[in-house]
Amino acid sequence: MPIDLRSDTVTTPTEEMRNAMRDAVVGDDVYGDDPTINELERLAASMVEKEAALFVTSGTQGNQVAVLTHTHRGDEIIAEATSHIVHHETAGLAVIGGVQPRTIQGVNGQMPIDEIVAAIREPDVHNPRTGLICLENTHGDSGGRILPLNYMKDVYEISRAHHLPIHLDGARLFNAAVGLGVQPKEITAYTDSVQFCLSKGLSAPMGSILAGSKEFIDQARKWRKMLGGGTRQAGVVGAAGIVALNDMVSRLPEDHRHAKQLAEGLAQIDGIEINAIEVESNILFFSVAPVGLSSTEFIERLKSYDILANTYGSSQIRFVTHREIETEDIERTIACVKEICANERTHV
Ligand SMILES: Cc1ncc(COP(=O)(O)O)c(C=O)c1O
Repeated sequence: MPIDLRSDTVTTPTEEMRNAMRDAVVGDDVYGDDPTINELERLAASMVEKEAALFVTSGTQGNQVAVLTHTHRGDEIIAEATSHIVHHETAGLAVIGGVQPRTIQGVNGQMPIDEIVAAIREPDVHNPRTGLICLENTHGDSGGRILPLNYMKDVYEISRAHHLPIHLDGARLFNAAVGLGVQPKEITAYTDSVQFCLSKGLSAPMGSILAGSKEFIDQARKWRKMLGGGTRQAGVVGAAGIVALNDMVSRLPEDHRHAKQLAEGLAQIDGIEINAIEVESNILFFSVAPVGLSSTEFIERLKSYDILANTYGSSQIRFVTHREIETEDIERTIACVKEICANERTHV
């Protein structure tokens, strides 16, 4: 088995999940008749202290449904420039939502507060209407950085003052909660809607949750149907989601410890650039520029050691830790990176 550090999405369902999936009591969820999905949605809503929740097929679908529900065609939405919803959802905002992203470059995933305020449109005939503020916590492209509660609160206060909803892309909400040492509901208190994934560090085979007010979820259910996300005996996969929420959150600190250990090990290697202090959750980026290899060349070298990773730009590599990465995998990865760098230096 390779050491697969490409993403926490590669995690496979646990034995408990497979058993729960086999034994799930199911019904037609489009009719609201699937008891397992109904239980999952109740449990999910209570964990983020929202009135209602909706099972969606993926994080992307959850985000897009949220945008459709909050906004109108022609609106502008404020989002961080490298956020998933802007960068990695195949222009769904434009194609599906019919909205225009107004992006702000963040620092560690945080859009500067004054720039958010400045980006909110005045009611002028030339202007689109600002319809939504989107946040992402943890923030993937900044290396899994965690938006602190006081930042979330500041943005929330702005949103109230301007009567704007806030949607949180919390694909890794539980990682954020673990990193902050708080309950997820303490984060989602500063949002109107939240999407979180069951299929990443929590190891379910598929699915995400969109949560918000009852009125919001009633409307979101219609948009989900339009996007083809109304599935029938969905409890077969929803059962794994229940196990994910009940059993898998408590093990996330191990992934964070492994990411830190990996970062600290890499920081010692001549040829690698990383600031281990910045690693706050289960994602880390590092530069291989000093060793004189491109990121693509570097991941090919890693592959020859049976280690899988993703590139980020021409010189950065991304590692993501998860349930299927053990402490010895971390140690082996550090040793292999060291060897790759040492070999490269002897060749130049
Ligand atoms: C921050 C963030 N949001 C949304 C998503 C989308 O989730 P999915 O892959 O389930 O569509 C991802 C996926 O990696 C993500 O990292």
